[in-house]
Amino acid sequence: MKKLLALLLALVMVFGLVACANTTEEPVEEPVEEPVETPVEEPVEEPVEEPVEEESLLVGVSMPTKDLQRWNQDGANMQSQLEAAGYEVDLQFAANDSAMQISQIENMIANGAKAVVISAIDGEALGTVLAQAKEAGCAVIAYDRLIMGSDAVTYYATFDNFLVGVMQGQYIIDTLDLANNEGPFNIEFITGDPGDNNINFFFDGAMSVLQEYVDSGVLVCQSGQTEKLDVATEGWDAAKAQERFENILSTYYADKPLHAVMASNDSTAQGVATALSTAYSNDVYPIITGQDCDIVSMQNMLDGKQAMSVFKDTRDLAAKAAEMVDAIMKGTEPPINDEETYDNGTGIIPSYLCAPKACTIDNYKELLIESEYYTEDQLAG
Ligand code: BGC
Repeated sequence: MKKLLALLLALVMVFGLVACANTTEEPVEEPVEEPVETPVEEPVEEPVEEPVEEESLLVGVSMPTKDLQRWNQDGANMQSQLEAAGYEVDLQFAANDSAMQISQIENMIANGAKAVVISAIDGEALGTVLAQAKEAGCAVIAYDRLIMGSDAVTYYATFDNFLVGVMQGQYIIDTLDLANNEGPFNIEFITGDPGDNNINFFFDGAMSVLQEYVDSGVLVCQSGQTEKLDVATEGWDAAKAQERFENILSTYYADKPLHAVMASNDSTAQGVATALSTAYSNDVYPIITGQDCDIVSMQNMLDGKQAMSVFKDTRDLAAKAAEMVDAIMKGTEPPINDEETYDNGTGIIPSYLCAPKACTIDNYKELLIESEYYTEDQLAG
């Protein structure tokens, strides 16, 4: 009997323990699992996804042509800088055809571009398409060349274009030592496309320092072609520059030396250099100016066929234009350092003017090679 009682007691204790164990298990497990899982997972996932969508905004980049080396560099630099900032980029080149440029910009707007960066072929021709851009909420930035007559243009990224012309004119003055030398020296002029607002700044900048020597007779223009529109070159085309200079050289310089050619850029300077090789035989080889430090012109410089160029580092320009795009998208302040020079007919367009640098055989290594703009091999030809 005692044994039976002891057994019963033992059984009761075992069940009691099991029951106790059950009651202790339940309250421990449940409250621990639930609050841990929910608050940790939810807030982490949501905010991570949203900014990724914002970063893929579309930006159109419209360049005038692939024919001139610099625009390929400008386009590539713009694309890489904008992509690095998280934008999707539609880069187009318009073969120097204004109608093609307009339709490319129309496509960018139709595809939902939030901004377009444009280097205009004809600065007067974009009014209608840019009105569409404005209507669609697409911001417009003028790149290198100002777009005229459109209030859709928000900012302008360029170089100090007047200073480019001053550098070209001053180079001629210094090299011929006009301050101490009465000459007379013969000079001819050539600039770019009449639809490019930049020629007003390049040509006026050069004439701001050269005009007094023309007026005093120290510089003589044998062709008499000294007005901007007389010396313009459609499309900045080297072949047209060559043709015009072959005429000038055979008509006015068959028995006279030509001492200087104020050429506004490298493509026109190249046309002049080619004309000199075919239609000029005087021993005096003229000083030829230029702009862009285009590879062909740098090779001409190394060969003694072009005296100077103006280096405009397209990496700097692209960086400023990309910063402008980013500031517009984020509602922050864009980089601006000039609010008085560039009026496009609808008012002053706030601008950033990058610094041009005069480049000659004496400093090209520092400007172009050391800055890794070119390699020595690229210039060796
Ligand atoms: C640019 C020059 C270029 C020329 C021809 C101008 O608007 O400022 O750098 O040489 O166009 O493309």
